[in-house]
Amino acid sequence: MRLIIQANHELTSKWVANYMARKIILARPTKEKPFVLGLPTGSSPLGTYAELIRLYKSGIISFQNVVTFNMDEYVGIPKDHPQSYHTFMWSNLFSHIDIREENVNILNGNAPDIKAECQAYEDKIKAAGGIDLFLGGIGPDGHLAFNEPGSSLASRTRDKELNLDTKIANSRFFDNDVDQVPSSSLTVGVGTVMDAREVLIIVNGFNKSRALQHGVEEGVNHMWTISALQLHPRGMIVCDEAATYELKVGTYKHFKDIEKNHLDPDQLLNSDLIW
Ligand code: GLP
Repeated sequence: MRLIIQANHELTSKWVANYMARKIILARPTKEKPFVLGLPTGSSPLGTYAELIRLYKSGIISFQNVVTFNMDEYVGIPKDHPQSYHTFMWSNLFSHIDIREENVNILNGNAPDIKAECQAYEDKIKAAGGIDLFLGGIGPDGHLAFNEPGSSLASRTRDKELNLDTKIANSRFFDNDVDQVPSSSLTVGVGTVMDAREVLIIVNGFNKSRALQHGVEEGVNHMWTISALQLHPRGMIVCDEAATYELKVGTYKHFKDIEKNHLDPDQLLNSDLIW
């Protein structure tokens, strides 16, 4: 696993966006062979999405031949609810870039047949050739997508109850009222994420530092689903300084040292030396 430590959220976002842009450019995607991205919601990727929009508007990248699959969606709120992940993705990214609407895939939390919806999502990922790069964030309890503690590390797309930790964390988007947060979701499984050719997780802020410590320093454990990344051949976490608070000094120094030539976000746009 790679761990890229940046000074703050702004640089983290720039690093991730430039990295993604470079991957897309180098892949030379076509309509027949698109670049397939997995995407998250939440505050963690917001800066990255703003940077990607900037790169698109400066003519550096195009999303014409990019296909996306979002990680998760709430169950029980309408698609056009201000806090649905459909609304989030269109307002914060898709409406501002040249992606084709038919290339955007987001789980339908109101599907009449949840099992069929989840199976169809898995089938569509497979039909698209699998995910080239899965971008993600984590919750304070280390959850990846909505794979709460105790989720099978081999899990596939399915419905999942949200735990209290997540409801409290997400209540900031629902008038700070835990009872307004939907109690269920549809989410890709840990296994679905791990099938991607590459996984990049953004970890920002002090409140994620315990999850980062478990994900990086402790063993693979279903109570911290982020830790499954240790088993991925191309797993990477990009974090800010605040998130490193619970890491050992030695761990911090180790990753700073081995990544010292790869920390500058500006170098990435011209680099061929990336996974
Ligand atoms: C939700 C999403 C996760 C996301 C997490 C972190 O729970 N289902 O996919 O990673 O929020 O959110 P934030 O980035 O706002 O801390």
